[in-house]
Amino acid sequence: MKFEKTSHLQGTITVPGDKSISHRAVMFGALARGTTTITNFLQGADCLATIDCFRKMGIEIENDGETVHVHGKGLRGLTAPKDTLYTGNSGTTTRLIAGILSGQPFATTLSGDESLNSRPMERIMKPLSKMGADIKSVLDNNCAPLKITPASLHGAHYESPVASAQVKSACLLAGLYADSETSVTEPTLSRNHTELMLSSFGADITSSIHETTGKATACIKPCSELYAKDILVPGDISSAAYFIAAGLLIPNSKILIQNVGINPTRAGILKVCEDMGADITYLNKKEDGEPTADILVRTSKLHGVTIQGSIIPTLIDEIPIIAIMAAHAEGETIIRDAAELKVKETDRIHTITENLTKMGGNIVPTNDGMIIQGGSSLHGAHINSYLDHRIAMAFAIAGLTADGTTTIEGEECVDVSYPEFYETLDGLMPVRIPRSVL
Ligand code: S3P
Repeated sequence: MKFEKTSHLQGTITVPGDKSISHRAVMFGALARGTTTITNFLQGADCLATIDCFRKMGIEIENDGETVHVHGKGLRGLTAPKDTLYTGNSGTTTRLIAGILSGQPFATTLSGDESLNSRPMERIMKPLSKMGADIKSVLDNNCAPLKITPASLHGAHYESPVASAQVKSACLLAGLYADSETSVTEPTLSRNHTELMLSSFGADITSSIHETTGKATACIKPCSELYAKDILVPGDISSAAYFIAAGLLIPNSKILIQNVGINPTRAGILKVCEDMGADITYLNKKEDGEPTADILVRTSKLHGVTIQGSIIPTLIDEIPIIAIMAAHAEGETIIRDAAELKVKETDRIHTITENLTKMGGNIVPTNDGMIIQGGSSLHGAHINSYLDHRIAMAFAIAGLTADGTTTIEGEECVDVSYPEFYETLDGLMPVRIPRSVL
């Protein structure tokens, strides 16, 4: 797919439902008594993989392409799947389901695509084993496929070396089936959708942040039942991020993105944009469960910043597009404490560096991030997404700011989190040229 420099982007858009929240709504709905109706569910491949896994475990799930009805059968209502649960490209599906499966009275095998099966699973195997789970890497390489065999779980405390919502959630979900309280402490608070949503389904869950160390702890008590709760999924800030960056970087632009989730454990990109000098206005703020707002962005002159410490988990998925903003900003941007980038859908320190360098960006990779000297004008290049959706979308936006033509290889991988990405982008263009004729 080809991208050329554009003179401006203008319009009002919505982005699809939040990926993290959509996954959780299906999972918790399946484990609850009653029907959970999920509005604005993300119909991306990752979340569809979650639906598929629960259907294979006997849960009736209706999906009309927008709204999803999950007919939950209670905490002990799942049944043994006939074959391997396929989780595709989705780390969230794999790691969260592993927590649930650890407490089931039947054996299961979880496996995904090539990228997923090369991502580290020891991070969940270790705490789940500590709780008594029988979870093994089939190839003995600490990666999926994972085989999970019935075992009785006991409550435990786990001190996680990484701030990871997937690790935290796997432990908390296993904790529903344990014989006593389970707690997880992480170095800084990662996204807290599990804590918020599980609590609204009736789980006894508490969270706290240590005043001096900043470490975050979530505790869950074993539970006899969860109860269905309708979920309205806000727009995904991670998907909105591409349009926020595009609106800031492309001249004469003004984009209104409606109904975006701005949970502070997710919305670090907004703080970074403001620190870089962005013109962003929040309209129509709502605080009902997950906070939301309409986000109005206008073209802005950005300057470099240092991004490190506890903000990193709140923007980890947005670093590819932050790198593009940094390449255009005046001065230096330093990103530290982000070694987790190496174990995402691709090693994003590598895939960002390789592709931004091809476009003429000045970027030096480091062990836990990158240093970008801004202000170099980018030129078109052949971008390899390595089938990483966030790399494809970030570099599509870069292509709109660069001289010449940018081509994205493997552009279809956006289906994982944002199937309509290119159409929405086209809708903001000055002249609408269907991508098929470019
Ligand atoms: C997610 C947590 C994050 C994030 C991922 C979604 C979640 O991963 O990168 O895209 O929904 O819990 P980690 O928990 O590995 O940081």
